[in-house]
Amino acid sequence: MLRFDLLSTEGHARRGRLTLNHGVVETPIFMPVGTYGTVKGVLPQSLKDMGAQIILGNTFHLWLRPGLDVMAQFGGLHRFEGWDKPILTDSGGFQVWSLGGADGKGRKITEEGVRFASPVNGDKLLLTPEVSMQIQTVLNSDIVMQFDECTPWQTAGVLTTEAQARSSMELSRRWALRCKTEFERLGNPNALFGIVQGGMFENLRQESLDALVEMDFPGYAVGGVSVGEPKDEMLRIMAHTPHRLPAHKPRYLMGVGTPEDLVDGVACGVDMFDCVMPTRNARNGHLFTRYGDLRLRNARYKTDERPIDETCACHACATGISRAYLHHLDRCGEMLGPMLTSIHNLHYYLNLMREIREALDAGQFAAWRQRFAEDRARGV
Ligand code: GUN
Ligand code: ZN
Repeated sequence: MLRFDLLSTEGHARRGRLTLNHGVVETPIFMPVGTYGTVKGVLPQSLKDMGAQIILGNTFHLWLRPGLDVMAQFGGLHRFEGWDKPILTDSGGFQVWSLGGADGKGRKITEEGVRFASPVNGDKLLLTPEVSMQIQTVLNSDIVMQFDECTPWQTAGVLTTEAQARSSMELSRRWALRCKTEFERLGNPNALFGIVQGGMFENLRQESLDALVEMDFPGYAVGGVSVGEPKDEMLRIMAHTPHRLPAHKPRYLMGVGTPEDLVDGVACGVDMFDCVMPTRNARNGHLFTRYGDLRLRNARYKTDERPIDETCACHACATGISRAYLHHLDRCGEMLGPMLTSIHNLHYYLNLMREIREALDAGQFAAWRQRFAEDRARGV
């Protein structure tokens, strides 16, 4: 089940409402990443408190551990991880790809699927479009992603050619059809999204998009970006593809990005984003604030009594926890440090999207975007 209401537009930017089996998602939205069934270091209740509406899980990781028997025993991922709002699961294609290493030797891609050795116990495994649909059906995620091949930007230092990007895109296109067939055969009651590939080639992106639209998915993602390409290449694809997707269906840009990327993505017509950046960077002392990024490990913060961001309402900032204390926790490797910084960074991302939605509601996105850029340039 999926319903998408387009509430208003400003240029390509859109304000929408997505209704899924486990609840309603106001778009544009950022989705925190919970690969192993946990948004690392953050309580489910904290996620709710900071206004998370939908989180991610990963087919690949949950298949390996705890495995499908446990997932089936719990009736899916929601009860297992104690999250009753919507969940989107990625299909495993990208995760197997990341695992294969820069030269791709750790996996073998054929028409059938991807063969690889389990990173947990070395077992030889085969992940196919059908298996990915079967796993995601057991997980009972609200949004199921097609199994695809994420076309790399380069392999062992050599750029992907148009011919390579084409055969990769065509493989993902054939897999999209197999996913749809299996998803329907399983009677999965949730929503399956197709993923546009095509590398850095606009003509291939268009072909991929046309073929997926023909297959009539309830939503579409743009994949194969933020795979190591220069920023202007990513912006070129972002400017090309999302706004060409069907207006009355949700659009998801996978694995993107910085706060600036999200704002640019919204301007290009994207409704949904996910990225490990807020949580991963938090663990490395890289904090996002309204007035720019803050590197907590810098010695200047050793005695800084100010909160991370005086305009932030997250648990850390609202209770007055100082930069000096967070700097100290990081230096000591104390686990409270990344817990608090993860809450702050996620709150920043979720609040950014909330501000964007409010600006769109008021027909003020262009003006908001201008002030966003000025504020971010001010400096902490
Ligand atoms: N996450 C980031 N990019 C991609 C992609 O191209 N495909 C999938 N399945 N997941 C992604
Ligand atoms: Zn904060």
